[in-house]
Amino acid sequence: MIDDIKDLSTIEKEKLLARRRFGAYFVKCIGGVLIATAAITLFAIFMISDFNGAFTPARATATSGRTVTTFLFMLLLMLGLYGFDTKNRHAVRDFWLTLIVFVLTFFIVITLSSEKITNNRYAMPIAILSLVVLQLLDVKSSVLSTAVLGIIVVISFHFSNRAADYNMARVISAVICNSVSPIIICFFYKKHFTRLKFLLLSLLVPLLAEPLVIMMTLASTTSIAANLLNNVLWFYGGNAIASLIFMAFVAIFEGIFNIADDFRLSELCNLSNPLLKRLASEAPGTFNHSLVVGTVAEACASAIGENPNMARCAAYYHDIGKLKAPLYFSENQSNYNPHDELIPEVSVSMITSHTLFGEILAKQSRLPSEIVDICRQHHGTAPVGYFYRKALTLKEDGDLAVDKYTYAGPKPQSKLAAIIMIADTVEAAIRSYMPDTREEYENRINMLVDEKIKLKQFDECPITLGDIAIIKKTVMESLASINHSRIDYDKKRRA
Ligand SMILES: [Fe+2]
Ligand SMILES: [Fe+2]
Repeated sequence: MIDDIKDLSTIEKEKLLARRRFGAYFVKCIGGVLIATAAITLFAIFMISDFNGAFTPARATATSGRTVTTFLFMLLLMLGLYGFDTKNRHAVRDFWLTLIVFVLTFFIVITLSSEKITNNRYAMPIAILSLVVLQLLDVKSSVLSTAVLGIIVVISFHFSNRAADYNMARVISAVICNSVSPIIICFFYKKHFTRLKFLLLSLLVPLLAEPLVIMMTLASTTSIAANLLNNVLWFYGGNAIASLIFMAFVAIFEGIFNIADDFRLSELCNLSNPLLKRLASEAPGTFNHSLVVGTVAEACASAIGENPNMARCAAYYHDIGKLKAPLYFSENQSNYNPHDELIPEVSVSMITSHTLFGEILAKQSRLPSEIVDICRQHHGTAPVGYFYRKALTLKEDGDLAVDKYTYAGPKPQSKLAAIIMIADTVEAAIRSYMPDTREEYENRINMLVDEKIKLKQFDECPITLGDIAIIKKTVMESLASINHSRIDYDKKRRA
């Protein structure tokens, strides 16, 4: 694959890789579209049509027509989700997650609103899909999947061979109300909501949307007295059910698809997490270092518009690879330094292997892939300066290639990985040499970051020089506040 593109220009390479990425996405997802189309069509026919009648020669055209229409909208969903972010390396995972929640929500919507359960079209918890996709993926995907689900629900009722039994005006009104409500939630939604805040929002917005239900009921029925109260109650009931199912679905799907949503990140940042507890007891120096890096990285991520929860979480786990041999890292040593008995080459391999072991341990612990990557990338391909210099002193000719004394990489591939690299480097350096003045702090941070730039450590991630300038300033402010000197009250009293 690499051989046939190496002679192309950068733009041509990008285009070719983009086409290949899309081709792979299409091949891996089209089967899901076909399966979902079949499941949705058969289920709708079973629940709200005359099942046997739907497969008679007289209804063959109608049944094929609804199947093809459903297929086309599912295809639109598949292409739309990809189109929002063509570089999303989790595009296939995100599509399958959306598809499974989509089909399950469709089943619940049709079942609950059918005459077998409530016989009220307003009992359509479409919000299950909207809220789960909103929480686990993003706003755009949530709005698109909600719109497609609404359309497919209308198609299912409209093409039923018992369509005459359903008041289509009511169906459309119900779908509009039940889609608008979660879309409003999307606009109020803020990242870093707790589960409770999210639940309260998802229960409050349908209440605010009730006037819409009343207006729609007035516009779509003649027997107002019989329908109004029913519609109002079932609309709210459907949305309350959606909020509860949403909680269960998020807990299940974030685990199955290993997604780092904010609920999961806050659980991972809990210091009673087994891996963090192990780090605290087996490598206390590394644990404390990680906590400080977490505070600094969180502030940096907020400052440049990245996810601060992800930054904190990644910082907590970035050095878990040191658990393999904690004593080989200076922050965990007291009187004994095992490197005194080793040649520099062995010391370097012991130290650099913590990124690889960290990646393995993170995968074994099923940490989100973003954190796994940061465990591997946070030192990039930088040299282990201390041991390189030690090796140089042992060399008689004073000439030594640096390659064997560097981390294996890869370099940071994301802005968050770059943030962790900077916060990690600066925290470690300041810990070993605490500057006295603000100016010294600034100079030291500038020097450490500029050294990484000189070593081309940020060449493979989309971070800009503007971002780096903001990060330097934020690191400076947060480290200065963490390491501020305490007031000597005894001295004050003595004075
Ligand atoms: Fe590290
Ligand atoms: Fe570190």
